[in-house]
Amino acid sequence: MNSDEKKEKAAQKAMAFVTPGMTLGLGTGSTAAKFVDLVGAAVADGLDLVCIPTSEATRAQAAALNIPLTTLDETPHLDVTVDGADELDEHLRLVKGGGGALLREKIVATASDKMVVIADDSKYVEMLGQFPLPIEVVQFGLKSSLMMIESLAGRVGCKGDIVQRMKEDGTPFITDNGNFILDCHFGRIEKPEALSGALTQVPGVVENGLFLGIADVALIAGDEGITQLEFGF
Ligand code: 5RP
Repeated sequence: MNSDEKKEKAAQKAMAFVTPGMTLGLGTGSTAAKFVDLVGAAVADGLDLVCIPTSEATRAQAAALNIPLTTLDETPHLDVTVDGADELDEHLRLVKGGGGALLREKIVATASDKMVVIADDSKYVEMLGQFPLPIEVVQFGLKSSLMMIESLAGRVGCKGDIVQRMKEDGTPFITDNGNFILDCHFGRIEKPEALSGALTQVPGVVENGLFLGIADVALIAGDEGITQLEFGF
């Protein structure tokens, strides 16, 4: 099975968490997009629910599929959010933000009773950090924020290049919230909780891509089928 087929299998499995009348968070990325397509098909078949997208890209996809949408301001609490991940470990700690949507993804996931992660088995790692950790920072004082991140991360054992994310045309990547992304090539994040805590000390950091104690279930698709990891219940 190729990774695309595995993503599809994980997305299909996640449909078991979708029930009529619920408020559902829709993640961002290629795996989440497959789930959104399935939700769209279920809505076309008569499923009644309301969704909150985690990015403008997902909003556009969901709207094109006629999925009923609301906002966190109208509906501040969700039942379930289904989203992908760039990395996850055995404790259901995640690195997210490869698509640059980490802030809205974290806001929506933490406003949900349950976060379900869908992924192919290439995302499952023994230690987080091989995938560069995305950090969303305000545009003002970018260089100062980068230097503070470098210093504070170093104190918790994380060293490596920190690079501003750019688009293919050479201009800075701007998030849906109007901020920049710094990608941190740490290689290994031995103490994710300590790193996340350190990053909150940088005033220019809006949010980082470590999702710690947020995911409840992971559906990981491999050649042998789906492995379901659960945390905290
Ligand atoms: C976007 C994300 C995505 O969930 C993550 O990048 C995984 O994407 P994909 O399913 O395309 O591998 O965090 O900000």
